[in-house]
Amino acid sequence: MSDPTHSFRLDGRVALVTGASSGIGAELARAFAQAGAAVALVARRRERLDEAADVLRSTGARVLPLQLDVTDAAAIPAAFERVEAELGVPDLLVNNAGIARTGMFLKTGIAERDATFATNFDAAWDLSAEAARRMIAAGKPGCILNIASVLALGGAPGYAAYAASKAALTHLTRCLALEFVRHRIRVNAIAPGWFVTEMNDDWLGSEAGREYLARIPPKRAGQLRELVGPALLLASDAGSFVNGVTLAVDGGHHAALV
Ligand SMILES: NC(=O)c1ccc[n+]([C@@H]2O[C@H](COP(=O)([O-])OP(=O)(O)OC[C@H]3O[C@@H](n4cnc5c(N)ncnc54)[C@H](OP(=O)(O)O)[C@@H]3O)[C@@H](O)[C@H]2O)c1
Repeated sequence: MSDPTHSFRLDGRVALVTGASSGIGAELARAFAQAGAAVALVARRRERLDEAADVLRSTGARVLPLQLDVTDAAAIPAAFERVEAELGVPDLLVNNAGIARTGMFLKTGIAERDATFATNFDAAWDLSAEAARRMIAAGKPGCILNIASVLALGGAPGYAAYAASKAALTHLTRCLALEFVRHRIRVNAIAPGWFVTEMNDDWLGSEAGREYLARIPPKRAGQLRELVGPALLLASDAGSFVNGVTLAVDGGHHAALV
């Protein structure tokens, strides 16, 4: 009898993970490499990418650190060209790069709103288009995994731009799942709850942040490794019939948003 955990492996796959220089993206890039994928690590901070790539290479993984500002749409085709030449056609795109600008709605300027959407939504749109075109041209099935947020599932004061950009991303997930299913490209999202990263460590480490964590259903932040199993499920053949979902990974926070 074959080992049922084998279908979670990513051997032979080529992953492109955006926002791989820190936090969730770095964790997922590492996990995918350990699961057998060749991984392109994409972000703006080159030194961080080089460091992460060196660590992964020392374990025998095939990795490519690639500096890219994901909001620079004109630079995306060349980035894919490079990944294709060095690792192969990416068949697993993780749209994880994101920014969180907080502020009450009436104090949020248009520039902040647009910057939030440019990174959290428009870039995922552009990268998904490039990835899907190339998978289709190569006749390669694959996956797109969008990193949304628990704030895509329920609103919160002070997060209008961020929450709306992430809600848009979950709806894009559904639409693309329906369009790409005939090409055997699955599109899913993860909606993480709170995880301590560079995006929020100041706040979550403050007294107000600690009090907030004590009030939410799991009564704690998630550990980054708690995202790995759900991401592997959606990215691998283990999730071959899972398409168009937004999977909350939040200790139950979404069930009673507070
Ligand atoms: N942490 C949480 O509690 C939480 C909860 C829900 C959702 N999320 C989502 O998870 C994702 C990862 O966030 P994180 O928590 O891991 O925070 P993080 O450590 O700040 O990571 C954000 C990543 O995005 C990259 N990035 C931002 N703008 C970019 C751009 N224009 N081009 C390329 N890369 C860019 C950053 O890299 P460079 O600065 O090097 O470019 C960094 O690697 C985000 O989409 C976030 O919204 C996080």
